[in-house]
Amino acid sequence: MSNIKVIITKDYEELSEKAFEVMAEVLRNKPDAVLGLATGSTPIGLYQKMIEDCKNGGISYKKVKTVNLDEYVGLTPNNDQSYRYFMRHNLLDHIDIDLNNTNIENGVAADLPAECARYDALLSTLPRDVQVLGIGANGHIAFNEPGTPFDSQTHVVDLTENTIQMNARFFASEADVPRKALTMGLKGIMEAKKILILASGASKADAVFKTVRGEVTEEVPASILQNHPNCVLIADEEAASLL
Ligand code: F6R
Repeated sequence: MSNIKVIITKDYEELSEKAFEVMAEVLRNKPDAVLGLATGSTPIGLYQKMIEDCKNGGISYKKVKTVNLDEYVGLTPNNDQSYRYFMRHNLLDHIDIDLNNTNIENGVAADLPAECARYDALLSTLPRDVQVLGIGANGHIAFNEPGTPFDSQTHVVDLTENTIQMNARFFASEADVPRKALTMGLKGIMEAKKILILASGASKADAVFKTVRGEVTEEVPASILQNHPNCVLIADEEAASLL
């Protein structure tokens, strides 16, 4: 039996509102919460609501800490394609958080396995109160593609040809797309006390169905969330159309 609590919304706007309600409840109960954050297009609406609320005198992030899921290898934090840059641009620079309390893997570390070990040690000192996730059309979460072991920790991944092609639109040419990334593993993701996974649009419908109703299998990385005791999936009608 799936433990995942599913909330279906009429559209992306309502999805973002509901996601903000979940996030706000975590933060009201615990002003020094640790937030696990994701990049990608899906959480942007949630981040905009967090920014709007903070600017209007709502929740303060002064005591909040964040950890992110993943980062490209080879991009400096100032590169506008890096996930560090994405997070600053889409959230962190616009709320009252101390940037020293925000964490993401270092994609330009000289020793990548050592960087992964550093990140896992950091995660164990910063237990997440909530982890925000998007989902890939193939069921990936973070850069954990189908076939990634459920017990994986932070690791280096070779991006698949498909992911490189999908991401090429953000770069000057396909040759500029990084070939590797650092990603939190599935075990690390499952350690968060609460998971908030967001899915929008028809291209996610199959992945959402398999995540909620399918077999728990490494072929669908997000299906592991069925084993999480406190997972909320918010999907708009298109993403939830097969449920
Ligand atoms: C983001 C991440 C990815 C995305 C996923 C969905 O940090 O790790 O797994 O969550 O690819 O991306 P969008 O939201 O752009 O559809």
